[in-house]
Amino acid sequence: MAGVFSTLLLSGMLLCGVLLHIVSHHAGTSTKKPNFIIILADDIGWGDLDVNLPEERANNNTPHLNLMAQQGMRFTDFHSAASTCSPSRAALLTGRYGLRNGVTHNFAVDSVAGLPLSEVTLPQLLQKAGYYTAMIGKWHLGHTGPYSPTNRGFDYYLGIPYSNDMGCTDRPGFNLPECLPCNSPGPQVIRLQRDVHGGCYSKVGLPLIENSSIVAQPLDLWTLTERYKSAALRIIHNARDQGQPYLLYIALAHMHVPLSPLVAPDTPSTSQNTDDGRVYAATLQEMDSLVGAVKSASDSDTLIWFTGDNGPWEQKCQFAGSVGPFQGKWQISRGGGSAKRTTWEGGHRVPTLAYWPGRIPANTTSTALLSGMDILPTLLSLAGVTPPSDRRYDGIDATDILLHGEQTGHEFLFHPNSGAAGKFGDLQTVRNGKYKAFYMTGAAEACGGATGSQQLHDPPLIFDLERDEAEERPLDFEKPEYKAVADRIARRREELLWDIATDTSVSTADYTTDKSAAPCCDPTQAVCRCHLLR
Ligand SMILES: *[C@@H]1O[C@H](CO)[C@@H](O)[C@H](O)[C@H]1NC(C)=O
Ligand SMILES: *[C@@H]1O[C@H](CO)[C@@H](O)[C@H](O)[C@H]1NC(C)=O
Repeated sequence: MAGVFSTLLLSGMLLCGVLLHIVSHHAGTSTKKPNFIIILADDIGWGDLDVNLPEERANNNTPHLNLMAQQGMRFTDFHSAASTCSPSRAALLTGRYGLRNGVTHNFAVDSVAGLPLSEVTLPQLLQKAGYYTAMIGKWHLGHTGPYSPTNRGFDYYLGIPYSNDMGCTDRPGFNLPECLPCNSPGPQVIRLQRDVHGGCYSKVGLPLIENSSIVAQPLDLWTLTERYKSAALRIIHNARDQGQPYLLYIALAHMHVPLSPLVAPDTPSTSQNTDDGRVYAATLQEMDSLVGAVKSASDSDTLIWFTGDNGPWEQKCQFAGSVGPFQGKWQISRGGGSAKRTTWEGGHRVPTLAYWPGRIPANTTSTALLSGMDILPTLLSLAGVTPPSDRRYDGIDATDILLHGEQTGHEFLFHPNSGAAGKFGDLQTVRNGKYKAFYMTGAAEACGGATGSQQLHDPPLIFDLERDEAEERPLDFEKPEYKAVADRIARRREELLWDIATDTSVSTADYTTDKSAAPCCDPTQAVCRCHLLR
């Protein structure tokens, strides 16, 4: 009896195996989950990518990204979830507006906390689903204890825990105003250095962190690209050897000042052939070649998503990127800058590409209205992971847009104030179709220092981005077109604000600062100087 039973069982198992084999063969995919690489550029402008510009204006600074666009999908209406670093990154990793995840403005070198621990991150969810999760680069969501990347879902971390200007380096790089080097001999010299509002922050040297240890301080910025590149390639190769699906999140230091590229003599200039324009161009090329190296190393079943954290930092003049056609002219004519930190298009419309050979159709353009918050639901959906049901998400699953030519993105998308006007995180600008409404306007500091003033708008200013991508002339309040749009947007805005007000999963971030929270490998040394530990 037992013999017959086990024979039956065995043949049953064989049959199952055959069926499974047929099924998976038929679907054309293995049961292994796809790999994900997110590459987030810092302060990159929409017009920094050649493929986003008309041919006659392109400089050929981004050949690898151009090729990625040709082999994948380019997005023309993709937005960072905020117009400044920490909130944009928090929203990307949580799929939620800053009003829900608590991160509405930037953390500092001496911030004691970070992204609230009540928030659930993309790497946490993928890690639980069997992914190897690694991060390289700028975290900027809290660097102390439980707030650090390896405690928020990453198995491995290598990077500068915040912006590359938040600490001095021995070779300062290109910035405006010039950052002072940290090779100053004694503490009193350091005290004389200008703080946040000067060049680089000067209290501590810029640290390089691996997992949760400082491995270099101050970091030699000029070696950073090579370090990031070799770490990325090692992670990809190791994950392949292990046969484990992976998430690799690379938050580049490029194109944030101070820039530190090697400038070849034949580098073309991005602005009127000046040397500074050549520095910017060389930095773009360096970023592009890093992306190219990651792309060539990646396996075929890997989705690479390239995007930006916010628009260019105009205050940095020739060391800032290009907004392309999104010039925010209404604001510029009233003074101040209209890119990073603002809710003008130049502040949050970011160059974005998605590449996945054999899955994302090649050489395609998507005009769907999308946001960095959509990355979390989309990757979870592709990995077959259900997001936790105890919280509300603002991002949408864009799988059908990536894979199946669907063009419908957000019906409404809100842009939070990132420091240009009013209260941090407030949803002051709303997109609906081709229309964009401003309940409040404000400017960032422009090149040259002009700041402009904040202004409330009741009724809101509404621009038609299809006719007026430079946001120059708002619609006439008297037009029936205006009234219909204004009503629709006002209704949806009320609904969302109510939804957030009644959301029991809203988190609050602790923005307290304390000197002791600044990363320091040796407090007895000026600028916390240490030898390279590894
Ligand atoms: C970081 O963690 C990895 C394991 O994920 C380990 O191989 C490496 O040695 C660690 N590095 C440091 C500096 O602790
Ligand atoms: C990509 O598409 C454009 C226009 O849609 C076409 O002109 C070009 O030849 C295509 N390139 C490739 C490599 O297929």
